[in-house]
Amino acid sequence: MKTAFQVRQSVLASTFAKNIFLVLFTIFAVNFYISYFYSDVFLKFREDNMTILILRENVGQFLQQRLPAGQHLEFEETISEAKKAELLGLDDGISDEAKRIMKELNITNAGENGAPVIFPQNLSTEISKLKDLMYKTYGYNALASSMISLNRALPDNRSDYCKMKKYPKDLPKVSIIIQFHDDDWMLLMRTVHSILLRSPYHLIEEILLIHDVSEREYFKEKLENYIKKIPKIRLIRSHRRQGIISARILGARNAVGPVLIFIDSHCEVTTGWLEPILARFVEAPNAVLWGKISTMSPDTMQVWTNSEAGRIGSFRWNLNFEYMDVDWYEGDKPTPKFEPKPSVTILGACFAIRKDFFHKIGLMDPDFDMWGGEDVELAFRAWMCGGQVNKIPCSVVVHMFKSHTYSVNTKANDGALYNNDRIAEIWLDEEYKKYYYRSVGHTKDRNFGNITERLELKKSLGCKSFKWFLENVHPKMGVPDEIRRPEDKEFR
Ligand SMILES: *[C@@H]1O[C@H](CO)[C@@H](O)[C@H](O)[C@H]1NC(C)=O
Ligand SMILES: *[C@@H]1O[C@H](CO)[C@@H](O)[C@H](O)[C@H]1NC(C)=O
Ligand SMILES: *[C@@H]1O[C@H](CO)[C@@H](O)[C@H](O)[C@H]1NC(C)=O
Ligand SMILES: *[C@@H]1O[C@H](CO)[C@@H](O)[C@H](O)[C@H]1NC(C)=O
Ligand SMILES: *[C@@H]1O[C@H](CO)[C@@H](O)[C@H](O)[C@H]1NC(C)=O
Repeated sequence: MKTAFQVRQSVLASTFAKNIFLVLFTIFAVNFYISYFYSDVFLKFREDNMTILILRENVGQFLQQRLPAGQHLEFEETISEAKKAELLGLDDGISDEAKRIMKELNITNAGENGAPVIFPQNLSTEISKLKDLMYKTYGYNALASSMISLNRALPDNRSDYCKMKKYPKDLPKVSIIIQFHDDDWMLLMRTVHSILLRSPYHLIEEILLIHDVSEREYFKEKLENYIKKIPKIRLIRSHRRQGIISARILGARNAVGPVLIFIDSHCEVTTGWLEPILARFVEAPNAVLWGKISTMSPDTMQVWTNSEAGRIGSFRWNLNFEYMDVDWYEGDKPTPKFEPKPSVTILGACFAIRKDFFHKIGLMDPDFDMWGGEDVELAFRAWMCGGQVNKIPCSVVVHMFKSHTYSVNTKANDGALYNNDRIAEIWLDEEYKKYYYRSVGHTKDRNFGNITERLELKKSLGCKSFKWFLENVHPKMGVPDEIRRPEDKEFR
């Protein structure tokens, strides 16, 4: 007779054996699964001279998580963009409808190399109507855009200095955060494709798409199916309308990489855009960085880039962003032309910050209205609270100013002023607030919400005063001429 104890022991033993069997079987199965796909993929890699391997559609995430430590999915630097697009499964995205119209209009290779898409003068009524409708819906020439490959080439007009400069291979990885709302599919996806095509693959931790509530049909199932096929993309859906600022906070909270780059959904990055940014964080972890922002036409999709180092960021007394001539700013203490240089402010279209520093200095003001002023606010806060702001001339991103934006501010009559009022009340010392209010035309009973928490943050971080900021960061700013009239909004 077995004692109860012995029975229990033998039951345990058999459960144990079963479990062992299950574990072994699982290991075997997983191994088989990996090697099965691995070999297939491996062949591909040898043939294409890639350093390691290429994701296959359905096993992409699976393989990525199980790569041997220290190995990256990576491409030889010499691989062409067309080849990379093919390997990553990035289609040109041009619909049959667009192809039909292109044929009718005798348009080929639309927008390649940043060339303008020019329609003939004598458009049929049908196409003309479609063009106008699409322009109105998306705030730019979305019909022209529909004809341009999502993988289009862009001119590389960087200076020789930037082209020759070498960066370490081993740089911090980046989470690239793109928020979108009612955007046009092609414009958003061209932003995504350009990032995948022109960034060292192993340096991208993820591309985070923040879906800021949209009723557009293509952002439902189509989007989910689409991102399954291309690597490194993660989709986060917000349940209520956030606006640019809150959507970016949401992205920052969910991002995995040590570096965050926020980029508008209507940009294209150019060759070599990423490395100079990431390399700068190795030297200056407490920096907010932005590169050269080149222009894309909302009418023809033409891209202009020049080989100049470009200008740095400043602001006016209404607290709006303004460009500033770097030579004037630096005066007799010039920094090397194409090296990172101090910049008073940033432009919000595309900027980078380390995740830890961003969290430390309080992300973005969560009470800001949908858009406006957040870039200047972040720059002020970075400078005053122990960090710095740099322009990176070798990093070039192309950005489109659309003819309208989808974010409608709601918190005050003019939400942009609501945000700027908050900046003034939180970051400007008493003696400087008057210049701001004079600049925007002071009216009584301004509504800028509750600033208690942000003032507490400022105090707990031991941030310096605005006076310090003006003296040390922008000594040439100057205060407006006292004699000028309040209604004169142009003074600075
Ligand atoms: C791969 O590299 C070899 C030797 O470096 C070269 O001859 C060959 O053309 C390359 N293949 C491709 C597809 O680039
Ligand atoms: C179409 O364009 C090609 C080259 O751009 C040109 O040679 C041809 O004449 C054009 N055809 C028409 C019908 O305009
Ligand atoms: C526009 O002009 C081109 C060349 O002159 C012609 O081939 C085409 O049929 C015209 N299209 C329309 C809609 O009139
Ligand atoms: C490149 O930049 C130079 C000026 O720096 C400009 O003259 C030229 O047009 C630019 N080329 C292109 C293709 O944008
Ligand atoms: C402002 O916010 C603080 C901290 O969140 C809170 O204690 C205070 O009651 C708020 N003030 C008003 C007027 O709501």
